[in-house]
Amino acid sequence: MTASLALAVSPLSPPTTAVAAPRHRVTYDHYSVSIDGQRVLLRSAEFHYFRLPSPDLWRDVLEKYKAAGFNAVSMYFDWAYHSPKPGVYDFTGVRDVDRLLTIAQQAGLYVIARPGPYINAETTGGGFPAWLKNVPGRARSSAPGYTAAYRDWLGHIDPIIARHQITRGGSVILYNVENEYAAATDAAYMEDVQKKARADGIDVPTMTNDCCDAASWTSTWASGQGAVQIPGVDDYPQSFDCPNADTTWGPWGAGLTERLREDSPVFAAEYQGGSIDSYNGGYDKCRELTGPAFMKFFYKSNLIEAGATAFNYYMGFGGTNWGWLAQPNDVYTSYDYGSAITENRTLTAKYDEFKRQNGLLATTAPVLAETDPVTAPASSDQAIETVARANPDTHTQFVLVRHSDHAATTDDSATLDWTTPDGRYQVPVRVKGRDAKVLIAGYDLGGQRLVWSNSELMTHVEAGGRDVAVLYGTDGTQGSTVLRYSSRPTVQVLSGSVKSSYSPRPTDPGLPPGSSTGDLRLDYTHSGLARVLISGGGRRPLLLLLGTDAEAARFWQAGPVLVRGTSLVRSATVAGGTAYVRADTAKAEDVEVFGDARRLVVNGSPVRTRPTTSGSLLGTLPGPKAVHLPALTGWRSKAESPEAQPAFDDSSWTAATKTTTESPLKPKTPTVLYADDYGYHYGDVWYRGRFTATGAETRVSLNAFTGKRGSYLVWLNGRYLGSAAGGVEADADAPVNPDPGRGDFTIPAGLVKAGQQAVLSVLVENQGHNDDWTADDNRFKQPRGLYAVSVTGAGDAPISWRIQGARGGENLTDRTRGPLNNGGLYGERAGWHLPGYPDGSWTAGAATTVTPGVTWQRTSFRLDLPQGQDVPIALRFGGPVGQGYRVQIFLNGWNLGQYGGDIGPQTDFTLPAGLLRGHGRNTLALAIVARADATPAPVSLVALDDERGGVPVSDVPSPSFR
Ligand code: GAL
Repeated sequence: MTASLALAVSPLSPPTTAVAAPRHRVTYDHYSVSIDGQRVLLRSAEFHYFRLPSPDLWRDVLEKYKAAGFNAVSMYFDWAYHSPKPGVYDFTGVRDVDRLLTIAQQAGLYVIARPGPYINAETTGGGFPAWLKNVPGRARSSAPGYTAAYRDWLGHIDPIIARHQITRGGSVILYNVENEYAAATDAAYMEDVQKKARADGIDVPTMTNDCCDAASWTSTWASGQGAVQIPGVDDYPQSFDCPNADTTWGPWGAGLTERLREDSPVFAAEYQGGSIDSYNGGYDKCRELTGPAFMKFFYKSNLIEAGATAFNYYMGFGGTNWGWLAQPNDVYTSYDYGSAITENRTLTAKYDEFKRQNGLLATTAPVLAETDPVTAPASSDQAIETVARANPDTHTQFVLVRHSDHAATTDDSATLDWTTPDGRYQVPVRVKGRDAKVLIAGYDLGGQRLVWSNSELMTHVEAGGRDVAVLYGTDGTQGSTVLRYSSRPTVQVLSGSVKSSYSPRPTDPGLPPGSSTGDLRLDYTHSGLARVLISGGGRRPLLLLLGTDAEAARFWQAGPVLVRGTSLVRSATVAGGTAYVRADTAKAEDVEVFGDARRLVVNGSPVRTRPTTSGSLLGTLPGPKAVHLPALTGWRSKAESPEAQPAFDDSSWTAATKTTTESPLKPKTPTVLYADDYGYHYGDVWYRGRFTATGAETRVSLNAFTGKRGSYLVWLNGRYLGSAAGGVEADADAPVNPDPGRGDFTIPAGLVKAGQQAVLSVLVENQGHNDDWTADDNRFKQPRGLYAVSVTGAGDAPISWRIQGARGGENLTDRTRGPLNNGGLYGERAGWHLPGYPDGSWTAGAATTVTPGVTWQRTSFRLDLPQGQDVPIALRFGGPVGQGYRVQIFLNGWNLGQYGGDIGPQTDFTLPAGLLRGHGRNTLALAIVARADATPAPVSLVALDDERGGVPVSDVPSPSFR
C-alpha cells in the first residue's frame, strides 16, 4: 500500500486519515527513554489481557488508561494461556494478542511487552503451562528440556510482538526479559532469552524487572552475562496487608527506585498500584491500602527523590482469574487488585489521582524527563522537608514538599526560601497529613512564564490563541501563583475569590539593562474552582483554572482540548471548528470544552452549546437510561458424581500405570497418581481405585495435593467417607512435609466384603499450580493429585487406579474457551456447562439443599440492555460466604470463577460484556461441589454501574452443546 492520505469528513465524525505506519527509533540515556530523539516520560500501567476474556473490552480499558494520562501499557504474555500441550499454541479469539497490540496502538499507548518466559503474576504456574512440569530439567535455567520448551514459546510469541514494534510502525517500545529473576539464577539462560528474542526480530531495547531491593540479589542484570539494556526495579512499599489498610504505611521501604546503570534511566518497572488480597480482606481494603494518600506520597517521592522517568504501575486494571487461571497461594477468582480501575471497569478515586499526577508528568515531560538533583529550598519549619530536581538546560525546578517525618499525620505550615531560576522568593507551603506536593518554578508554561506556584500543575493546553492551565491544591489550603510579564497585565477574576497584585522587578538579574519585568502574584484559597483570565502584559492570554483536588479531577485532557465534566473522555479531536469528543456519562450533566472549537459533537451527536466568559463551550449531555435486570428463575438442577458408584464404567479413563515422574517429589504409591503426569492439568480430577478386599479394612488414609484453598472428597463403594484439605505450596519447601494433605477416613463396618472388589473414588480439586518465583522445581513441579494411599487392614493386593480429568486432557476439546476453562467434573465432561445442553429432564427448581458430591443447576435469562450503554453486571451470591461447598460459575459455557468459604471472601463475580450477551439469551450453570450437606446461597444479577457511552462490544463466540 502506498502512503496515501485519505480524508473523509462528515459532520458527526472527525476526519480520518490513513497513512502508512511510520517507523521510529527507541534510544535511551542516563535520563530517559527517547523516541526519535524526543525524551519520553514513560507513564505505564500493567494490563493482563488474559484476565479479560472479551477483546472489545481491551479497548475499553486501554482507552481508560489513556484518558488517565498514561502513555504506555505494560503487558505480560501468559504462556500457559496459549499452550494446552507441548508444541500447540493458540492465538485466536480471546487469545488474539495481535489484535490486542493493534488496539493498544489505536488507543495511543506504547507497549512494554513482557513474554517471560516466566511471568509470576499470580497466574497458574506463574505463566508456565502445567505440561512443563513433565519436562525434564529445572525451569528458569539452561537445562536442555526447559530450553527447548521456552524457545518454542518465544518462537511463537516473539514474532507477534516483533511486528508490533515501534521500529516497524507499531507501538511496542521495550521488551522485558524474564521476571524478578533473583533466586537460583543462571546467567546463560538470561542471555539466551535475549539471543532468542533478537533472533526472532526483537530490536527494541531489552529490559528486566528486578525484584525489590535489587542490589541485594545475585545480579541486577545491569552488567555481566545476561545483562539487559535497561534494568528496572519493582517496588511494593505498602505490602499486601489489605486487612490492616488503615494502619499500614510503607512497611516494605521507602519505595525509591534504585539506579542500576549510569547509561540508562531509573525505571520503576513495577511500582505498587494496588495489592493482591493475600489475607482475604477484600479488594476494597486493598484499594484503601494503596489509595490516593499512598499514591501522592510514594509516587511523588519516587519521581523527585529517585529521579525515575519511567513508571509502570502494577496494576492499572486487575481483571479476573477466570477458569483455572489463579495461582492458588495468593489469589482467588477476582484479580481486582484494588486498582484504579475496578474489575468491573469502573473508575475510582485512585484513577483521579493518576489523572492528576500523570497530567503533571505529561505536560512537563520535555523538561521533567531530564533532571538532576539540585539544592532544595530551605524550609522555615523542621516539620516540612523539600527535595528538588532541575532540568540542566531550562533550569526549571521541581520541588517535592512533604513532612520530614514520613509517617506524620499532622497539619503543618512553613515558608520556603526558594531561589528559583527567576529570583529568590519566600513561598508559603502547607502539608496536611501524608500529603506530598510537586511544586514548579521557572517553567515555560505554553506562552507564559510560571515563576513559581504552591499549587500543583495538572495540565495546560494551547487553545484558540491562548493558554489554559489547571492548577490545584488541597481543599481549604492557601494558594499562590506568580507569573512573569513585561508590563502590567489585565486580570479578570471570572469566578471564585482571587486577589492579584503586580510588582515590577526592574533589577531582575539576567535581563538586558533597562528591560522591565514584573511579577503578577495571585493569592487564593483552594476551594471549588476559581477562574482567572489574564491578558496583555506582553503575552498571549492565559486562562487559569484554580481548583481543589476534586475539581481538578473533573478535567480531561484529550488531544487538543480540555474537557470539564462527564465520567470519562475517551478521545477528542478538533476539525473545522468542531470538537469531536467521545465521552461516557453516568448522569445527565454539563460538559464544558476548552479548545479551538465553536461546535461540539459528542459520541456522534451534535450538542447544543453556548459560549462562556471563560471562552469555552458549555452544553448538557444526556445520562443513561435506567437498567432493569431480570430475576434468575426457571432453574433446573441435577446431582451427579456417578464416579462414586462402584458400577460406574471407567473403562475409557486413563490407567495410572506410570512408574516414573519428573516431579521432584516422588510418590508413595506404587504407580504415579499425579494428574499432570497423565495430561490432566487444570480443575477437578477423579480417581477410581480397585482392590480386592480382605473384609478387615478399617481405615483409608490419603495424601493429596490440591494447592491452597483445595480439598478432596472420598467415597468407598459408593459411600461418602468425607473430605480433607489438600497439600499446599509450603509442603514442598525444605524441609519437605512428609505428610502433606493428609486425610484419614474410617470405613464403616460391612462396607467391604472379603474377596470382593472394592472401589475407592476420590475427587481431587486442583486449585491451580504454584508459581516458580524461587526458580525451584520443588515449588513449581509440586504435583497435584494423590501422593500416598493406604488402607488399614487391606492385604497385599495392589490398588489399580484409573484417572480422569478434563475431557481430552491435553488434546483440547473446547479450543474456543481454551485449556484453563474446564476440569474433569462429570458435568463438565458431559457438557452440562454449555448453552443448549438439554436439561429438560432435570428437576425443576434451584438446588435448595445439596449432599456431598457434585450438584448442578442451570437457568437461562434474556438481557436487552439499552443500546450505547455500558452496564457492568455481576453475579451476586447472597448472605455470608457459604461454608462446606464451593460453586463453579459457568456463563455461556465460560468458567467465570469459584465461590465459597474455602476459596475467598468474594461474593460478586464479574460477568464481562461480550461473554455476557447484552442483547440476547444467556445460559448460567453452577456446579456445586459440596463436602457436607449444605444450603447453597441464592444468586442474582446486579448492575454495578450504568454509563451512557462505552465501546461497542460484540459477542464472544461461545459454542453450544453438540
Ligand atoms: C511482583 C511480580 C508480579 C506480581 C507482583 C505481585 O513481584 O513481578 O508478577 O506477582 O509481584 O502482585
